[in-house]
Amino acid sequence: MNLIFYLMVIRKFFHLAKALHPETQYLKIKEIINHGPNAKSFVLVPDTNKGTTKLAYFQAGQYISLRLHINGSYVTRPYAIRSTPVQALRGEYIVTMKLVPTGFVTPFIWKNWHVGTSVVASGPAGQLFYEPIRDKENIVALAGGSGITPFYSMAGAILDGTIDANLTILYGSRTHDNILLGDELQKIADQTSKVKLVNILSDEDVTGYEHGFITKELIKKYAPAGNYSIFISGPSVMYQFAMKEVDQLHLAPGRVRHELNGNNASPYDFADYPAAAKDKNFKLTVITRDQLTTIKAAANESLLVALERAGIVAPSMCRSGVCSACRSRLVSGKAFIPAEFDHRRAADAEFGYLNTCVSYPISDLTLEVPVHDYANQFG
Ligand code: FES
Repeated sequence: MNLIFYLMVIRKFFHLAKALHPETQYLKIKEIINHGPNAKSFVLVPDTNKGTTKLAYFQAGQYISLRLHINGSYVTRPYAIRSTPVQALRGEYIVTMKLVPTGFVTPFIWKNWHVGTSVVASGPAGQLFYEPIRDKENIVALAGGSGITPFYSMAGAILDGTIDANLTILYGSRTHDNILLGDELQKIADQTSKVKLVNILSDEDVTGYEHGFITKELIKKYAPAGNYSIFISGPSVMYQFAMKEVDQLHLAPGRVRHELNGNNASPYDFADYPAAAKDKNFKLTVITRDQLTTIKAAANESLLVALERAGIVAPSMCRSGVCSACRSRLVSGKAFIPAEFDHRRAADAEFGYLNTCVSYPISDLTLEVPVHDYANQFG
């Protein structure tokens, strides 16, 4: 009797865990909102025909990893859910993205995604969310470009009472026209004293806006008195600049959280990149289960991109060295891993494991990749 009861409880927990953290969510586009010619929001709802009846709940600030099959490549892209957790309970996620005309993914999306299109995504993931036990109740958010989206979700969750925290957003854009969701975010800030928005323009001097970059002086100027946590979300170049400024604030350990949003930097931008490897192509031997495949790996592209280009279904989620979904074993050869993005555990580094999304080939190499059987779970 007792055994049956315990088995039923375990089964219930198993189903609950699956509902909260599904590996795959089948979605479809309900609506597309244009924000000028180069940015769009996609309203996503469950695709009940494909078996997803409910959206997974998430913490404001988390992302879903979209899985796309483009010209023979299986690629992923993490996009923060910019709507609120309450909206997810009502059956809706919203993701917002900017068109990168020279990119691989957004031009495909601009051309192929319409109302009714099926979209495949992971469950929600990521650590860029407010956790009262871990974080200070005053959050200073440093955002660049489309990195504003997780903070848009947090601002909405503060407004509707899901989160009890204060959020000061320092949002860097090149020009006034480049500000994404600026009016919408200001509307939220106008309704609650707990959300403040400061726009900083790097390429334009406009009355009422800060001019330049997000420096430590600006952080000090707008950060609330007392203790605060810093959350950073933006492209790699902005992140590297912001981290140097934040380091000079000498905050206590654990007070800074970050997630990349946008393209990784070129490995050539790092001072310790070995110049001899620059612009070379290397031979990458990939071991997947019982198969051996040899592909090309360019010096300026991550090992993950090389795998994707070759049509290998390599696992990935965050694409910024944080989640370890792409963890693979380097059997031989050498890879360059920028120190800023090397978040491996000490044991992984010691036993030759690396995260392919932030590792770049600097010699011929052999890699053991834990491929998943989910080629059918790409849209
Ligand atoms: S995809 Fe997250 S660490 Fe590589």
